[in-house]
Amino acid sequence: MFPIHRPRRLRSHSQLRRMVQEHVVTTADLMYPLFAVPGESVAREVKSMPGVYQLSIDKIVEEAKQVYDLGIPGIILFGIPEDKDVEATGAWHDCGIVQRATTAVKEAVPDLVVAVDTCLCEYTSHGHCGYLEVGDLAGRVLNDPTLELLKKTAVSQAQAGADIIAPSGMMDGFVQAIRAGLDENGFENLPILSYAAKYSSAYYGPFRDAADSAPQFGDRRTYQMDPANGTEALKEIALDIAEGADMLMVKPALAYMDIIWRVKQATNLPVAAYNVSGEYSMVKAAALNGWIDEKKVVMETMTGFKRSGADLILTYHAKDVARWLAE
Ligand code: PBG
Ligand code: ZN
Repeated sequence: MFPIHRPRRLRSHSQLRRMVQEHVVTTADLMYPLFAVPGESVAREVKSMPGVYQLSIDKIVEEAKQVYDLGIPGIILFGIPEDKDVEATGAWHDCGIVQRATTAVKEAVPDLVVAVDTCLCEYTSHGHCGYLEVGDLAGRVLNDPTLELLKKTAVSQAQAGADIIAPSGMMDGFVQAIRAGLDENGFENLPILSYAAKYSSAYYGPFRDAADSAPQFGDRRTYQMDPANGTEALKEIALDIAEGADMLMVKPALAYMDIIWRVKQATNLPVAAYNVSGEYSMVKAAALNGWIDEKKVVMETMTGFKRSGADLILTYHAKDVARWLAE
């Protein structure tokens, strides 16, 4: 018995394979995360993330030019402030590190899309994503007081010149609160990329080194999602859409490809996948040991994100991917 259907017929020649290829990764799909720190000429490599640096604003500007020259359409900025306090002053202050970095980048590379992470964890003394009751060692962030701070943060980021507001704190109603704040201040055309389905994940470990944002006590399980839940992601995205989100993010990406797929099927908004720090570090560690072919593994991963429905990929590999695609 010989088979009638032979899928291998279409794999027999490289140009034929090209013709029937379903998904492609392009440089336009990428966003590159950057970490701004105080000081000048600072470029401090993050130990757990080889090739990723904490950069002072002058260096961020240099990096932004490079990113733009590589054809990557946008960056997302995180900030590490000089001082941290319970009110997260560094997050919403007009002279905050992200506000200054945003203005500097927009001045030097006006055409580059600057997204800003809108959260408080890098700026609070306890490292939680919002306001805490004094003495609450469980880290049960108070939702509605946090919304006020997030609103203030987003407005100051908008005033600094940000092109996309990306709230990541998983507070209930945060998109609505930020939308209202932006609209009241004349930024009704500024889009919101909501971290809509963000899981409480161990894959954020290296990021917390990079952003110096590990919670000092407790964990984030009272606000970030339980990794065991899938349907709940649809509830989260439905709320964010109703509240006015323009784009939705799923985070992390690799262990949550089913969620990327389900979110994509459930919405007509652009969907972003955040290929997070721990995912990057694992690949880097194996590559530096010579255990895997870094380029092939990374490109396969990016293709997987596209196949799972992601329109955009936030990744620390973005510059390498852009270079490989240009080869
Ligand atoms: C916090 C935030 C996190 C990341 C981005 N913003 C995670 C967290 O500490 O909960 C993770 C990004 C990464 O791991 O690359 N609001
Ligand atoms: Zn946070």
